[in-house]
Amino acid sequence: MYVSLDQAVAKLQCGEVVAIPTETVYGLAGDARKESALKQIYAMKERPANNPLIVHIGDINQVNDWASEFSPLAKKLARAFWPGPFTLVLPAKDSVSTIVRAGEPTVALRMPSHPVTQQVLRDSGLALAAPSANKYTQLSPTTAAHVTQSLGQGVAVLDGGACAVGIESTIVFVETGQWQLLRLGMVTEQQIEAVAGCRAVVRKQKASPKAPGQHLLHYSPSTPIRLFDSKAALLAFAQTQENCAALLFGDGGVVNGQSFVLPRDAEKTAEQLYDTLHQMDALKVDLLLIETPPNEAAWLAIHDRLRRASH
Ligand code: TXA
Ligand code: MG
Repeated sequence: MYVSLDQAVAKLQCGEVVAIPTETVYGLAGDARKESALKQIYAMKERPANNPLIVHIGDINQVNDWASEFSPLAKKLARAFWPGPFTLVLPAKDSVSTIVRAGEPTVALRMPSHPVTQQVLRDSGLALAAPSANKYTQLSPTTAAHVTQSLGQGVAVLDGGACAVGIESTIVFVETGQWQLLRLGMVTEQQIEAVAGCRAVVRKQKASPKAPGQHLLHYSPSTPIRLFDSKAALLAFAQTQENCAALLFGDGGVVNGQSFVLPRDAEKTAEQLYDTLHQMDALKVDLLLIETPPNEAAWLAIHDRLRRASH
């Protein structure tokens, strides 16, 4: 069910859940202070209660409503990368619902840059908890149509067009002058390092907060995926397959089946990646063959999503 911006705002203010566009992926949004809305988000996604949600804010001053500590390092990162595809995990205030943070002592905060998201945040006056608007472990949605494919026609969706970044935000945990990378995204480790003035600390399994998206079947289409180290290896294998589709980067040799080609440009590929995987999945072939993208820093988040999708 498609809703207008005013309807979306009214629903959110009443404690209902609405799928909204952001620059990364569509989010399934609800009032981050209302436990009934938070419970509904988990239920609709069929997401385990131990996987916390990101709280979306419209203004950097709202950080202090949620975090007990907004350190100089965290501030520096927020000023550099907000609004945008960047999430900060900070120590949570006691007042933050344990549902939104899934019992963690921390809370994840993001200020999105999509003008429609910003208007929803402004007009509603709320902070919005919003995980990606898909069933748990499925591919994230980058169009309004993807949302209804995953969550059904009954879900209220505000259509803001296709997402420009196309993959989920980079997530960084900041604590006592140090930072850790929890999820790769289009804001790269190098960019964060340049702003932070220091390198990331490597994650210690026990001491660090819950690592997000670690479920092995995250971001998966329903068709099995096989990754290939080179285009040549993919094309040779494709010759032996009857019913497959291929995803290639830069240029494509055609396979017996359908081939999809994404540009040798990490940002453009990220933008189109999930939509392409949704299209490939819809073909209902036996196997999706995917060329490993260029091995360069700008492509690391795309590598990460393809590795998870192919698991
Ligand atoms: O780009 C994005 O981040 C999108 C849009 C809608 O903003 N949201 C998104 O949400 O990808 P979701 O729920 O699909 O992924 C958020 C990840 C989860 O894997 C969760 O584990 C992690 O963020 N997370 C949330 N709160 C956390 C916390 N307090 N500590 C560690 N990880 C946290
Ligand atoms: Mg997700």
